[in-house]
Amino acid sequence: MKIAFASSEAYPYAKTGGLGDVVGALPKALAELGCDVKVFIPKYSSIDHYRYDLSYCWPIGEMPIRVYGKVYNVNVFTSNLPDSEVTIYLIDSPEFFSRPEIYTNDPDEDERFILFSKSILEALQRLKWQPDVINCNDWQTGLIPLYIKDNYSWDKFFDPIATVFTIHNIGYQGRFPKETLNKAEIRPELFYENSPVEIWNSVSFLKTGLMYADMINTVSKTYAKEILTPQYGAGLEGVLHYRNDDFYGIVNGVDYKIWNPEDDRHIPFHYIRDTRHRKIENKKFLMDAVRLPFHTEKPLIGIVSRLVAQKGFDLIVDAFNELLKIDAQWIILGSGEDQFEEFFRRGAYYYPEKIYTYIGYNNELSHLVEAGSDIFLMPSHYEPCGLSQIYSLRYGTVPVVRNTGGLADTVSDWHELLYEGKETGTGFTFDEYTPDALYSTLYRAVKTFDDKVTWQKIMYNGMSEDFSWEVSAKKYLELYRKAVHKRRG
Ligand code: ADP
Ligand code: GLC
Repeated sequence: MKIAFASSEAYPYAKTGGLGDVVGALPKALAELGCDVKVFIPKYSSIDHYRYDLSYCWPIGEMPIRVYGKVYNVNVFTSNLPDSEVTIYLIDSPEFFSRPEIYTNDPDEDERFILFSKSILEALQRLKWQPDVINCNDWQTGLIPLYIKDNYSWDKFFDPIATVFTIHNIGYQGRFPKETLNKAEIRPELFYENSPVEIWNSVSFLKTGLMYADMINTVSKTYAKEILTPQYGAGLEGVLHYRNDDFYGIVNGVDYKIWNPEDDRHIPFHYIRDTRHRKIENKKFLMDAVRLPFHTEKPLIGIVSRLVAQKGFDLIVDAFNELLKIDAQWIILGSGEDQFEEFFRRGAYYYPEKIYTYIGYNNELSHLVEAGSDIFLMPSHYEPCGLSQIYSLRYGTVPVVRNTGGLADTVSDWHELLYEGKETGTGFTFDEYTPDALYSTLYRAVKTFDDKVTWQKIMYNGMSEDFSWEVSAKKYLELYRKAVHKRRG
């Protein structure tokens, strides 16, 4: 099967969160199952041309792409996803992608991804490479299914190509004013109340993807159920009910070549399940590096996250005074909303012996925090899948999470299972989204940490879990077959 991935991120080229990890790994897993896979991402100015040995793609050449009546000359560069047969194509348009950040609040944010989406389709035409499926990811690529079925339908080349749309986060909907119809060349008659491209009187790229793709999925089974409800559906639950027969949940996997304490190149001391006592050497290394006093008897609580409301930081803020009473230390790595950045900066300033905060994106430190912490905290309000907690399991860093979305599907509560007579729990979980529930669960974890034998057992359980991509990649293949069947009849 031939599959094209359209995404705004792919590790190691461009990543702000889990989407990058997924698109850096799933295509490789599909290639290992015998698929011919090509990945398309924008060529952001942060992508180092020489580091990735990019070459100009002559078979595509320079493409004139029209956005909002203006024609841009777009070039394409190419290379292979590291250690794989997967080709990656980087869509180069400095007017749009030479910006300080991957995502912006600039008034042409819609134009950036209109150009990207059109460029992918025209690149396929020029390559004369006809995929069976285009797997679109998140709102940035939501127009592609519409374009194939409408704007580009004059070209028979696209007739057999099916589309799958993957929701990584329904909270980001790519909503723009009505004028965006003109920018994107969407026929104005497609815009009316509750139309396939409309929500709350704006154009939504996400809704467009959900309505026009042949098949839809999201990144865990529980999140797939949750977003059918008004509580989690962010206004799109009706659309998902409408498409329910074509809607699936497939949990994300992990690239254990990158996230594995056995040979992680970012950590100084390697270990496996049976040598997990060596993990503490990483803790010492990490704490020395960030100048936190090292205590063997106090747990180190790690956070690596986008600092946004989705991730449950308002709970931490509300419970903070109580949380401080727990005898533990904290290391926080993240960036995002000013209020949370400021909060954790201040925390580190007032409690330098207890809290270390790094505001920013730092890949190496993210691996060190996974390896050096005892507990990994992720009290998300909602979580489509979450990868960090799955990494934690492998690093023997016991996750404390809220029971939602992919967190619920990947972490099981130690005490809950103990009551059922099973010693198979891998972490600590809570249901209610309240500061009290967060506090009491973290307290429960820290108390359990004092019991070394039990803690070792929980670490052992987590490190025994296997979330490699192989299983989920096979499910994607099934989904692709369904999409092709739907498209071709
Ligand atoms: P999300 O995609 O919602 O951000 P995930 O748990 O799926 O959440 O994925 C987060 C990914 O981004 C992980 O690989 C994590 O290590 C990484 N990450 C998040 N924040 C940072 C940061 N400040 N520096 C480095 N990596 C980060
Ligand atoms: C999104 C979600 C996260 C998920 C990631 C990859 O960013 O917030 O839960 O793991 O996408 O699918």
